Amino acid sequence: MSFQAPKGVSEYVPPRSALLLRVREAFAAAARRACYGYVEQAVFEDTQLFVRGVGESTDVVSKEMYTFEDRGGRSVTLRPEFTAGLLRCVLERGLHNGPLPVKVWASGPAFRYERPQAGRFRQFYQFDLEALGSEDPAIDAETIAIAWDGYTALGLTQVRLLLNSLGDKECRPVYRAALQEFLRGLELDEQTRARVQLNPLRVLDDKRPEVKAQLTDAPVIADHLCKACADHHGRVRELLGDLGIEYIDSPRLVRGLDYYTRTTYEFDHPLLGAQSGVGGGGRYDGLSESIGGPSLPGIGFAPGLDRIVLAMEAEGLTSDTADGCQVYGVPLGDTARRDMLGLVTRLRRAGVVADMVFGERGVKGAMKAADRSGATYAVLIGDAERNAQTVLIKDLKNGEQLNVPGDQAVGWLTERVKRA
Ligand code: HAM
Repeated sequence: MSFQAPKGVSEYVPPRSALLLRVREAFAAAARRACYGYVEQAVFEDTQLFVRGVGESTDVVSKEMYTFEDRGGRSVTLRPEFTAGLLRCVLERGLHNGPLPVKVWASGPAFRYERPQAGRFRQFYQFDLEALGSEDPAIDAETIAIAWDGYTALGLTQVRLLLNSLGDKECRPVYRAALQEFLRGLELDEQTRARVQLNPLRVLDDKRPEVKAQLTDAPVIADHLCKACADHHGRVRELLGDLGIEYIDSPRLVRGLDYYTRTTYEFDHPLLGAQSGVGGGGRYDGLSESIGGPSLPGIGFAPGLDRIVLAMEAEGLTSDTADGCQVYGVPLGDTARRDMLGLVTRLRRAGVVADMVFGERGVKGAMKAADRSGATYAVLIGDAERNAQTVLIKDLKNGEQLNVPGDQAVGWLTERVKRA
């Protein structure tokens, strides 16, 4: 093979791809149950949407975007996340003129030019859910509960919810100034000093021990929230308590995207090492205005599907991932193959997952393929069966076999498979 996938691209092939689908479906089902509607949005956008929406000083925008000029000379960018594009889509299509909140979800690939490592890819997959047009703390709690139900439905038991509030346009600047003053008194390298100027909250996220050690006494946002933000946060915490959702108050939690206000959260998984974030989200009450829209508060979250697959593997939750084959057809000879394709098609139409041998294969090879397929039953059609107008059904788990009249085969198998 002379070609390889581009570096850092996450790809899934069977059987592991079934796990990815299962993860996506768990969140989609939780979203549907809460009346969120599906959106298929642009995979690339006007670059300025992300510059203005996500924030010029973020790593995502300043270092990680896949930006290129298209043949018409426009600067476009492959989406590094969904929120800005989803909001753009909702505004452009006028959904916010209907009943509020607008509740939507989407899912697919996102692109960030990061240094690839375990759990960190350049093309990765997100689920994304957003509620637009409400400041009610109950909608914050609803989105968190949906995320929580997604992880739980997958059987994950070790996911933790880290919760913080980042304040709003009233109190955040005051906190930012206090933090900057504190940070200016520290021993920091040039690059970090520049960051203190540009995006001081990100410094709190610095993982280097020599920086971390100096941050112990850094002011925390919780002590600087204005009354409205403190009340909002208190309400969200209360509601999560009502819903039985455990959270860890994390006053130092900051996010990599600039649009957040008030409620912010991350889900992490302790078995994933450095890339432990399996999802993140929060409120972004000023994002609409910053991309030229009307005032439209919003909140949402995005689980990272790749990392959730890794978390499921780490927790040993990989059994019965595939839509496993239930019946496997073994035709012996050309004419039998024609009959078998008919039988297998009728089984599929009856809802049975069925496959068969294609091409010329001896009985031994064909039975081996049947075993490997994981099916519960093999169905054989050879000359003897054709003459007697029967099929031979073999239970692959216990080896028992019996002849069934050809016209009863679909009914017999469908009933057994559904009972299993
Ligand atoms: P984010 O925290 O940047 O938030 O990404 C959400 C999740 O996507 C992360 O927790 C992680 O699981 C996954 N992820 C991010 N980058 C990578 C990568 N390079 N490789 C693998 N997985 C990755 C957002 O994207 C926000 N748009 C979430 C949101 C929705 N906020 C409000 N609404």
